[in-house]
Amino acid sequence: MPDNRDDGQRTRVFTRRAFIKGAGAAAAITSFIGGPTPPSAGVTRAQSSPTPASGAAERLGPDAATIVLTVNGKSRKIAVEPRVTLAEALRDHLGLHGTKLVCDRGACGACTVHLDGNPVVACMMLAADARGHEIVTIEGLGAPDRMHPVQSAFVEADALQCGFCTPGMVMSVAALLSRNPAPDMGEVKRAVAGNICRCGTYPHVFKAALAAAAKMRGVKPPGERA
Ligand code: FES
Ligand code: FES
Repeated sequence: MPDNRDDGQRTRVFTRRAFIKGAGAAAAITSFIGGPTPPSAGVTRAQSSPTPASGAAERLGPDAATIVLTVNGKSRKIAVEPRVTLAEALRDHLGLHGTKLVCDRGACGACTVHLDGNPVVACMMLAADARGHEIVTIEGLGAPDRMHPVQSAFVEADALQCGFCTPGMVMSVAALLSRNPAPDMGEVKRAVAGNICRCGTYPHVFKAALAAAAKMRGVKPPGERA
């Protein structure tokens, strides 16, 4: 699968500078995930504060420092500069490329992961601020030989084309179903409102989400005859 991280390289430099210039601003934006999610959506996609957990409050930098992240149930030690985002740490330091980096500014949802069970956009959170939290990526949700029900529902509903948005979509839907096992269509749409699909797979994504919810509850998916 192609990696388009070279696209918009200049923009990424600006974004990184913004991070360094405004730690306070960064803290504010990291509390919001799914940038385009309209406030009227009524769905709290904000994760709990990115405030470092206990033991993570010491100053880091400016050089790389060793931090420990809990990713997919395992402690992973990496050396990162303070400016490194969680998305970069996952992809570049831990080789977890299922977390996609597309806009790198919190607008597309492609980098959605779970932080303590909540969906967050990993490009808007510093890796150091993820210390002490439980991080789950698409790799931790399931694998080809043991797919999570949401993943298998996406396959069955043909809910992907290029696949760039798919991990983020799946993580958003999985987070929704963990807190709401029986969502209606409106709740599904709001849950993925921050996930942008340039291929227009939305109808199939919605169908997959409802099918996964039904399967996880042990009932027939909507529209399927008993
Ligand atoms: S890459 Fe993180 S929201 Fe787009
Ligand atoms: S499947 Fe291509 S961006 Fe969604």
